[in-house]
Amino acid sequence: MNGNRWKLMRQTMSPLFTSSKLKSMYYIIDKSATDLVEHLKANRELLKGNAFDTLSSFCSAAIGGAVFGVSTGSIFDSPFLDMARKSTQATLRSNLKVAVGNLSNQLFRLLDVKLFKDFEDFFIGAIKNIIRVREQEKTNRHDFADICVALKSAGNIVDKDTGLELKPTDELLAAQAFFFFIAGVEPTAQALYATLIELGKHPEHLEKVHQEIDEIFKTHNSHIDYDAVMGMKHLDMVVSEAIRLHPPIGLITRKCVKDTVLPVGNIKIEKGTRIMTSILGIHHDEKYYPEPMKFIPERFAPENRSKITDISYMPFGKGNRVCVGTRYALLQAKAGLVHLLRHFTVRTVIEDGGPKYVPQPVQLRLYNIDVEFIPRSIAT
Ligand code: HEM
Repeated sequence: MNGNRWKLMRQTMSPLFTSSKLKSMYYIIDKSATDLVEHLKANRELLKGNAFDTLSSFCSAAIGGAVFGVSTGSIFDSPFLDMARKSTQATLRSNLKVAVGNLSNQLFRLLDVKLFKDFEDFFIGAIKNIIRVREQEKTNRHDFADICVALKSAGNIVDKDTGLELKPTDELLAAQAFFFFIAGVEPTAQALYATLIELGKHPEHLEKVHQEIDEIFKTHNSHIDYDAVMGMKHLDMVVSEAIRLHPPIGLITRKCVKDTVLPVGNIKIEKGTRIMTSILGIHHDEKYYPEPMKFIPERFAPENRSKITDISYMPFGKGNRVCVGTRYALLQAKAGLVHLLRHFTVRTVIEDGGPKYVPQPVQLRLYNIDVEFIPRSIAT
């Protein structure tokens, strides 16, 4: 979506990601993270090899929970898991389709490229069902399905400034929910993966994070809540630095809407030109980060935060179209790490050829490197 339609939809979806909404939703995220630990304990073959896939399943299942709600069973038994995993998997076909989209929107539309056609029926059907069930239930579960029910009962979504109206059809709502999977699963998995890889390589930071986690379990009597997770200083530093060093999304694009001249370098830009900004390039620029290829979480210590300028750090993008899921993603990644590292420690394994980035349709993936989970005895 672009222009006024995007603006109206963005305003409508943003309330899902406020701090107070996330606080009420935390029980879903926490359950997802404890289910991840149980899932690993019950499937010990997952402790070694393909950690990214395990983390990606966790992120799919957790977003599934945030969209459709959770029941008492494990989130890993959710029927959405398989669908979400398949829909976000990169194939040659999906890469080509995304490449066409990046080249030209017109061409994309002209060729009538459908990125996720195979999943439409399943997803729209699932949203329809959940809305009908919730309309009967009349209980508040604080997930996306709640928002859908509220939107549908409030009638058309109206932009007071432009008069634009959107009807909250099942299809429109299903598309939003589906996009959360597409935009959210892989980057959040990558944020977790990058953090664990760096912790496995830096025992001194791993130790600090373990200590911080054990302390929080002690002071909170093992009942972790939103404030506990968000208040963890060292955890925040390692996650921030991991996604600085390995940004899950390597670049952002913008389309110039009027002829202009860039203030730096007097570069003329014509209306319609697509501009790509390399997040990876900026994050690895030694002008902003001395020794940019080194993992130095102290860069993000509270006393150093002011040195990080607005344009030098953009894992979630910048400006009006900045990632709408930023807060949710950080909360989910941190909650996952808190529960994982409470029960496991990690070892980083570098595979033949050494680590390398491979661009995927949605994100930048790290390959030739993995983490192993090793059960740890829990400090009480
Ligand atoms: C660590 C995890 C994540 C990272 C690094 C990330 C990063 C980004 C980036 C770089 C953009 C483009 C921003 C721009 O163009 O300025 C974006 C857009 C977006 N992200 Fe995320 N994201 C993450 C997780 C999520 C999650 C969990 C969700 C949803 C639940 C989500 C939903 C979206 C949406 C809907 C957009 C489009 C926003 C718009 O155009 O209005 N993201 N994300």
